[in-house]
Amino acid sequence: MEMLFREARGAAENAYAPYSKFRVGAALLAADGTIFTGCNVENRSFGLTICAERSAVVQGISQGRRSFTALAIAAPDSAVPVGPCGACRQVLSEFMAPEAPIRFGGSGPERVDATMGELYPHDSLHDLAK
Ligand code: THU
Repeated sequence: MEMLFREARGAAENAYAPYSKFRVGAALLAADGTIFTGCNVENRSFGLTICAERSAVVQGISQGRRSFTALAIAAPDSAVPVGPCGACRQVLSEFMAPEAPIRFGGSGPERVDATMGELYPHDSLHDLAK
């Protein structure tokens, strides 16, 4: 997971965050072992901002993957670890099993380790999934 976190940290360098000055990177491990990274992409119409996590999901899905087994998120401009926002938890839950590990960190050495199911419990829409 720490290797995945380093990938996320590298992806944060590509963040387009001129408004918040808050860079985020995500690294998503596909079931076949491929890693897809993403960063936050802001917009001057602020509500159009795309988070790093959804950016990584879009990369993986666009390359033909449908299943992801782990995720790491790096927020180098934050003193504390930053977990995925609510919208991203919904989107991630579409493609990650409840037991899939998710690690997140900020600028320091502290890491939070959780699972998809812990971050998004009571997924009542799950039965709609194909
Ligand atoms: N952001 C992410 O990319 N992922 C998160 O998990 C939290 C927030 C971005 C959105 C925005 O560009 C900036 O961080 C500040 O909210």
